[in-house]
Amino acid sequence: MKHRISTWLIVFIGFVLVLSACNAVKLAIPTQEDANRGSQLFKGFGLTELNQGKALFETKCTVCHGLKDPTSKTPEKWKNLVDEMTKKANKKAGKVVITAEEQDLIAKYVLTMHTAVAPKK
Ligand code: HEC
Repeated sequence: MKHRISTWLIVFIGFVLVLSACNAVKLAIPTQEDANRGSQLFKGFGLTELNQGKALFETKCTVCHGLKDPTSKTPEKWKNLVDEMTKKANKKAGKVVITAEEQDLIAKYVLTMHTAVAPKK
C-alpha cells in the first residue's frame, strides 16, 4: 500500500512539472514587420526601440512575478497595467526604478507585440 502511494506521488509531481514547463512564457523575437506595425502606432518607434522595450520588459517587469505574455491582454488593459505596475515597482523600491521614458518604451513594446504571433512552445 505504501509503495502504491509513492508511485502516485511521483506521477503527480511529474505531471505538475510538465504542466509548469508548458506555462512558461516565451516572447516573440521582434521582426521588422513588428517594427513597421509599431511605427504606424507610435511615431519614431522602430526596431531599436522595440528591442529596448523588450529588454526593459524582461528585466524590470520580472522582479515580482514571471514574464507575462504581451498577447494575453487587450491594449486598453495593457495601458492601465503598465502604468499601475510602474507605480508598484517604484513604490516597492522606494525610488524610481522604472523612469517615465522606460515606462513609455515598455508600454509601446507590449502594445506592438500584443498582436504578434507567439512562437511555438
Ligand atoms: C513591485 C512588484 C511588481 C513589479 C516590479 C511588477 N509587477 Fe506586475 N504584478 C505585481 C503583483 C503583486 C501582481 C498581482 C499578482 C499576479 O498576478 O502575479 C501583478 C500582476 C501583473 C499582471 C497580471 C494582471 C492581471 O490582471 O492579470 C500583469 C500583466 C503584470 N503584472 C505586468 C507587469 C509589467 C508589465 C511590469 C513592468 C512594468 C510589472 N508587472 C512589474 C507586482 C509587480
